[in-house]
Amino acid sequence: MNWRKIRIFVFTLLALCLIPATRYYQIDEPLLKLLRGSNHVDPLSLHLSGEFVENNLGTEQDADGSVTVRMIAQQYLFVPHCILVPAGVPVHLKITSADAVHSLTLNGTNYAVKTLPGTISLAELQFPHAGDYKTVCREFCGAGHYAMRSEFKVVPRDQFPALRAGERGACVLQ
Ligand code: CUA
Repeated sequence: MNWRKIRIFVFTLLALCLIPATRYYQIDEPLLKLLRGSNHVDPLSLHLSGEFVENNLGTEQDADGSVTVRMIAQQYLFVPHCILVPAGVPVHLKITSADAVHSLTLNGTNYAVKTLPGTISLAELQFPHAGDYKTVCREFCGAGHYAMRSEFKVVPRDQFPALRAGERGACVLQ
């Protein structure tokens, strides 16, 4: 056995491993993205970039007549506070958390969606009738947990405003 040759081989191997280690953004980042999948979102930059920026929150009209709702749960509120959706159409809910684990629960329905920082939770909802559905947080998330509420306002389909691309539906809590 030639120890010198083995030593050279091992050192060359180590040197080759060091090169990719200096290329964090070219190797680690894409690899992490691949492993995390498309449901990952950075909770620290929610308000700055990506689909959860403020003017993208609320109800979006989809081409097939359904709607997509984007929300953020954070200590101790849901953003937007009031969600406007039409009755009788599929509602694709996308929600993430900016901090702790929360659970968006719609009173009077079976819908409950757990939200986790770093993950986009997806839920398919549909409301057969118009009405106001109070929502509460059902996961203890801190001192203000009991005050963490919002509302889904379901209006008849013909009363739901026609939204242009880029426009988001919203409502005001009374
Ligand atoms: Cu949020 Cu409890």
